[in-house]
Amino acid sequence: GDPAGQALPVESRPFASYGSALHITLPQPPRAGQLLTLLIDYEAGEGPGVCWLAPEQTAGKQKPYMYTQGQAVLNRSFFPCFDTPSVKFTYSATVKVPEGFTAVMSATSWEKQKDNTFVFKMSQPIPSYLIALVVGDIVSADVGPRSRVWAEPCLIEAAKKEYDGVIEEFLVVGEKLFGPYVWGRYDILFMPPSFPFGGMENPCLTFVTPCLLAGDRSLVDVIIHEISHSWFGNLVTNASWGEFWLNEGFTMYAQRRISTEVYGLPYTCLEAATGRALLRQHMDATGEDHPLNKLRVVIEPGLGFYLFLGINPDDTYNETPYEKGYCFVSYLAHLVGDQSKFDAFLQAYVNRFKFQSITADDTLAFFLEYFPELKKKGVDSIPGFEFDRWLNTPGWPPYLPDLSPGQQLMKPAEELAELWAADSLNMEAIEAVDISGWRTYQLVYFLDQVLQKSPLPEGNVERLSKMYPKISKAQNAELRLRWCQIVLKNNLEAEYSKVKDFLHSQGKQKYTLPLYRAMWGGSEATRALAMETFSATAPQLHVNVQNYVKKILGLQVAE
Ligand code: BES
Ligand code: ZN
Repeated sequence: GDPAGQALPVESRPFASYGSALHITLPQPPRAGQLLTLLIDYEAGEGPGVCWLAPEQTAGKQKPYMYTQGQAVLNRSFFPCFDTPSVKFTYSATVKVPEGFTAVMSATSWEKQKDNTFVFKMSQPIPSYLIALVVGDIVSADVGPRSRVWAEPCLIEAAKKEYDGVIEEFLVVGEKLFGPYVWGRYDILFMPPSFPFGGMENPCLTFVTPCLLAGDRSLVDVIIHEISHSWFGNLVTNASWGEFWLNEGFTMYAQRRISTEVYGLPYTCLEAATGRALLRQHMDATGEDHPLNKLRVVIEPGLGFYLFLGINPDDTYNETPYEKGYCFVSYLAHLVGDQSKFDAFLQAYVNRFKFQSITADDTLAFFLEYFPELKKKGVDSIPGFEFDRWLNTPGWPPYLPDLSPGQQLMKPAEELAELWAADSLNMEAIEAVDISGWRTYQLVYFLDQVLQKSPLPEGNVERLSKMYPKISKAQNAELRLRWCQIVLKNNLEAEYSKVKDFLHSQGKQKYTLPLYRAMWGGSEATRALAMETFSATAPQLHVNVQNYVKKILGLQVAE
């Protein structure tokens, strides 16, 4: 439509297994500083970034739903972009939807105009993976001065009840620790059950799994985690997916700092201990030396031909960047030795690199610059703890933060697991332990201990199941995951249907894959259960999750 406009030659070239490159030939090379406007007319196809759900795949089962999930490299199927976290930009969007639907985006402002048209604007520069859109039958309710929850009408009451009045405190503590919250609003959108993540930190509008609706706020750590990305990830961003730990490791650290301020050190250490158990399970499953068990992962080993051999960034989503990353940040804090000094460093770090994309080298150089006395001492090269080793050597973290302040909560759980693992059960001792007052994460920790000791001696798990319906009949997703893992590891056939029911009820990747791995690694019967469950639920799952399950079940050759 622009009279000065000029049609340009466009070509799609191969890039990797996870996308293609759009090449646009300019009439002449642009001058530095010249403003160049490209108008690209396109249609989003069947790519993995845009998910179209049928009514049956929603909570209300009445109307269709669509959502986008950009991280790590999926937004290239939503719109043409520099789909790398190293490039940041603002955006605006005009979205016209059918009558009876609402559109929401990760934007600092939005306005509804006539004809069901929504106009969004993100006024802060963000990387492509943080642009997100949902269109569905959704409504909202206020839960704080700058926060509301969004959900399908049938879930909105539960959503409001879960988080009414609690979000603001996390934001205030985050601001006190890490500096201003620059995104304006912090809203939460409860997604359909097949959403593949616990949470996704889309700016201004975190997307979360409906599994968080536990009725007792017990899974609020996910919200604190996504809020923490407001500083680590969304303001200071990893320049490459090969250093994903910069986003997630710092966020885990920030999450646990906020949690410590709000819930205290013992509880936070307990939660961190369950994280450590996940890292242990992950490293046991993959082998400590697996190349993905390094903090710095090689995504693109070279140019030209090798580009096609690179790792898909989405394949690096595992516990290492989270929990080993957390250990590394905790190690930096340990070197400093004073929490308030380290908090001040984190705030200075955010302020120094906000709205930028950086590498771990930038982070570590800034750390040494900020603490010149540590630099003089050569803390980057202490034998066994070299920064280089942290980044480039796979395996168990060389330093683990002290979680003993959580002992008062962990010890009873460890002792109870010990009792249940005995050859002949000491029922008197078991009955003397009252778990009715235990917090969800104490139960999770207990179940992780039981899982570690499994298979238990014949008959013990059946008795455990009968003794604690609070666990074996739990509705809480974190408890259901552990219970299903225990059921499978102990071949408790009578309860296999619980595994099936859980996998039918939601599609979170971190719940789905461990269960399929366990089923596939089990007996004839559990393998059959895996096949049967997958053929029934596959159409519900996010396509990435579908593909990972196919790999586990040998239905697809590994790339
Ligand atoms: N940004 C991640 C989710 C993600 C990671 C999406 C990689 C796509 C690729 C999000 O912040 C996250 O880490 N979610 C966790 C929450 C947990 C650590 C509290 C999840 O979904 O389990
Ligand atoms: Zn995260």
